[in-house]
Amino acid sequence: MDPRETDEPREREKASGPHSLHRRRKRLSISIRPMEIDDLAQVFHLGERLFTAEDVPNLYRTWDEHEVVDLFHSDPELCLVAEEGERIVGFAMGTTVTKSRSAWKYGHLVWLGVDPEYQGTGVAEKLFHALLELMLEDGVRILIVDTEADNYAAIKFFRKMGFSHPQEHIYLAMNLDNLRQRLGARKTLSKEMAKRHS
Ligand SMILES: CC(C)(COP(=O)(O)OP(=O)(O)OC[C@H]1O[C@@H](n2cnc3c(N)ncnc32)[C@H](O)[C@@H]1OP(=O)(O)O)[C@@H](O)C(=O)NCCC(=O)NCCS
Repeated sequence: MDPRETDEPREREKASGPHSLHRRRKRLSISIRPMEIDDLAQVFHLGERLFTAEDVPNLYRTWDEHEVVDLFHSDPELCLVAEEGERIVGFAMGTTVTKSRSAWKYGHLVWLGVDPEYQGTGVAEKLFHALLELMLEDGVRILIVDTEADNYAAIKFFRKMGFSHPQEHIYLAMNLDNLRQRLGARKTLSKEMAKRHS
């Protein structure tokens, strides 16, 4: 499916009735601020609703308490929340990577999420621009994001924010459990043989 197809319902929603997204966008007063330790529970629970294994699977990262706490601990200055009143309605969590023998500093926007009730009202755009500013101040030269190939909303969003050149990566998997079992069986066998011959 072409990512552009996802525009249709959104455009229809925008154009329709008194509760259109445009009107809501104007009414909402969203502020972006640095994430604080007391926000972690709310952010975690919002992420739990957004990053279910089926909807937004990520092979090498999982949305769990450790992920949230670890990122907040390692890069607190790159963790932001979007707030309407007291309610956290979105978040962005990033990190930076410097490769050895390279002058390039990479920024990675690891998690970006917006409460479904607030999606389509420009919250992610605000979060992204605030994070971008921080990455620029931090000397980042290349900013990367990754998402599933069928997460059309996210792909459309990232394209609109200026990301280009999607690189295709293929993940290959080897089941080490099977290998472990085979090796374990071999070890038990060789121990057994050693006992018999001693
Ligand atoms: C992707 C996501 C963060 C976008 O948040 P959002 O607040 O709804 O995005 P915005 O309202 O700021 O949208 C900005 C632009 O992105 C594009 N966009 C965002 N959502 C879209 C959708 N569902 N369909 C088509 N385009 C979309 C549009 O171009 C939009 O501009 P427009 O409103 O002028 O058309 C949100 O859908 C989300 O939380 N998804 C689940 C988590 C996720 O997949 N995160 C990304 C990977 S970590």
